[in-house]
Amino acid sequence: MPQKKILVTSALPYANGAIHLGHLVEYIQTDIWVRFQKMRGEEVHYVCADDTHGTPIMLRAEKEGLTPEQLIARVYEEHTRDFAGFHVAFDNYYTTNSPETQALANDIYLKLAAAGLVEVRSVEQFYDPVKEMFLPDRFIKGECPKCGAKDQYGDSCEVCGSAYTPTDLINPYSVVSGAKPVRRSSDHYFFRLSDTRCQEFLKRWTRSGTLQPEAANKLDEWFHQGLADWDISRDAPYFGFEIPNAPGKYFYVWLDAPIGYLGSFKNLAARKGLDFDAWTKAPVDGDDGIEMVHFIGKDILYFHALFWPAELEMAGYRTPSKVFAHGFLTVNGEKMSKSRGTFITAESYLKLGLNPEWLRYYYAAKLGPTMEDIDLNLDDFVARVNADLVGKFVNIASRTAGFVVKRFGGRLVGVDHPMLAEVRGAATGIAALYEEREYGKAIREIMRLTDLANQYVDQQKPWDLARQGGAEARLHEVASIAVNLFRLLALYLKPVLPQLAADVEGFLGVAPLAWSDAARLLPEGHAINTYRHLMTRVEPKQIEALVAANRESLHPAPAAPAPAHSQQRHAEAKVHAEEKHAKPAAEAPATQAPTISIDEFGKIELRVARIAKAEHVEGAEKLLKLTLDLGGETRTVFAGIKSAYDPAALEGRLTVMVANLAPRKMKFGLSEGMVLAASGDQGPGIFLVAPDSGAQPGMRVK
Ligand code: MSP
Ligand code: ZN
Repeated sequence: MPQKKILVTSALPYANGAIHLGHLVEYIQTDIWVRFQKMRGEEVHYVCADDTHGTPIMLRAEKEGLTPEQLIARVYEEHTRDFAGFHVAFDNYYTTNSPETQALANDIYLKLAAAGLVEVRSVEQFYDPVKEMFLPDRFIKGECPKCGAKDQYGDSCEVCGSAYTPTDLINPYSVVSGAKPVRRSSDHYFFRLSDTRCQEFLKRWTRSGTLQPEAANKLDEWFHQGLADWDISRDAPYFGFEIPNAPGKYFYVWLDAPIGYLGSFKNLAARKGLDFDAWTKAPVDGDDGIEMVHFIGKDILYFHALFWPAELEMAGYRTPSKVFAHGFLTVNGEKMSKSRGTFITAESYLKLGLNPEWLRYYYAAKLGPTMEDIDLNLDDFVARVNADLVGKFVNIASRTAGFVVKRFGGRLVGVDHPMLAEVRGAATGIAALYEEREYGKAIREIMRLTDLANQYVDQQKPWDLARQGGAEARLHEVASIAVNLFRLLALYLKPVLPQLAADVEGFLGVAPLAWSDAARLLPEGHAINTYRHLMTRVEPKQIEALVAANRESLHPAPAAPAPAHSQQRHAEAKVHAEEKHAKPAAEAPATQAPTISIDEFGKIELRVARIAKAEHVEGAEKLLKLTLDLGGETRTVFAGIKSAYDPAALEGRLTVMVANLAPRKMKFGLSEGMVLAASGDQGPGIFLVAPDSGAQPGMRVK
């Protein structure tokens, strides 16, 4: 078979946040595929870069007192360190803020413009008169027009879930300056995706086998809703590339981000002497065998399956051969959460000394070719890694290799055995599973073979043979067979466990294992080295430490807006929007209120209260009227929790109130105190504080 030529990418992570275990689902998945292809001898170039442009990065830098260039340089170091730590082996990791990406963005844009696919239109948007900049939706907050919840973002309400435009918000304010935004018009550049040339091309492309069936179905839905033109410009001030012949107008970050794939590849091609044009321009006559494959999360499908291929096609570039979309990571069955300590950074994992290959193995065992979410269950993680890798795989060598070194001078005998034939014969099937991204199935098959190998050792009992007189030859054969089985299994696991495989290669004294080596066995007389333990067990304590290290303290985080990764008002483009929003708030330093003395704290009289009655208040959008029992005394309190609680469900519950708050006259009556509730800037809502069971109304909280 001729060698394949594949350009592979993973999505470019934003340059304003740390790499976390969610990201790693993607980079590990891609890296396994790339390593597998390389083991097969294919020509593969795996490129990625930091996604460096846009308003959030600009403002984030400003907040840290850095230039955007300084911020992205620092994050670049952090990202490359973390990826290397997890053995993600890019052939090039670059930045979108590069001359290559700029030149390519200009070229693509100018070709689209020449084809009549760029149009200028006036757009009215919110403008921050203090900061003197247009505000992306995510930088405007206000009250939800539907439910009245406060501090909701400009595109959707995290309390009631309704979607709207920023201009619908009640009492909008700029997250950047706090100022009331004003409406202002300016010229924007649009890519005319609604043009019939784009539409016809996309309909064809979608059904050409490029997309997973579920992704193709999503696209059909989007076609059905009609493709709107895409706003690709932003006004200064903006950190990005200025649009040619359009002073003061910048490419929207999502225009140059995917072009960053090509920019990174161009940078690599120059170093490696590859023919960049042959790899990236539309092939002149049909299929030239070169493939471009993108691994992405399902949240960015819209960008990769609509805008990106249309841009490329219309500008004369090669279109993606495959877009592989994966699902999102959950931890213990729930969305990663900072308060639960499950929003785990790559850095913390490595710093605490956890083995990156444990995670690679666990993800591989869970991954398949669909867009389904994958769950990292921390108990299962410990159990599975220990059982499979330490208990089964490593065990084969640790139980048998010693005999070869101690009894036979480290030399193997030439062997064959039906079991060796079976394990060698599995190579084709396992290869097909890796190729199809059926990693979970590949791992199951490899573990089935590992079980067989262990059964063989159990039956042959080399330790008994070692004690018997006259069983030397048998012992030598059994140990040699076991070492050969171990070698084959290490080969199959190598795309997932590159470091372990390298250690095994060192121990076996063999050259780096390629896929075709599965057809061979170690020859008579081959010398191996002393076995050293290859992998330690995961200790549950390590996981506890990991979660503790990632649990965010309860300091209130400042209202920091999210990366404006999508101004596309499209429900699907907003899947998992919360993760995107959650990012910057978490990284921003928690602003603490000034410290107070214990005496000052003591002035607040907190008491346990039983909600005797909870009622709607006529004409109040947000309030519930609560009648609180303080163990004899009764108080009336108006609480802004209507959006989160049904009054009937509150009656009888215990909560905590501030009992010595000065009474306040409200439109609806006198409020004699305040109940305590938790809420964050990011939603998801309001949570009433409750004491542990057993507490009695009237008890003091201190
Ligand atoms: N910068 C854009 C991508 C531009 S590509 C031209 C972006 N960056 S990101 O940092 O938010 O995400 C990078 C990749 O990681 C995306 O493919 C995203 O889907 C993936 N993931 C981020 N969080 C994830 C999980 N919790 N789970 C699985 N994948 C996740 O989007
Ligand atoms: Zn709402």
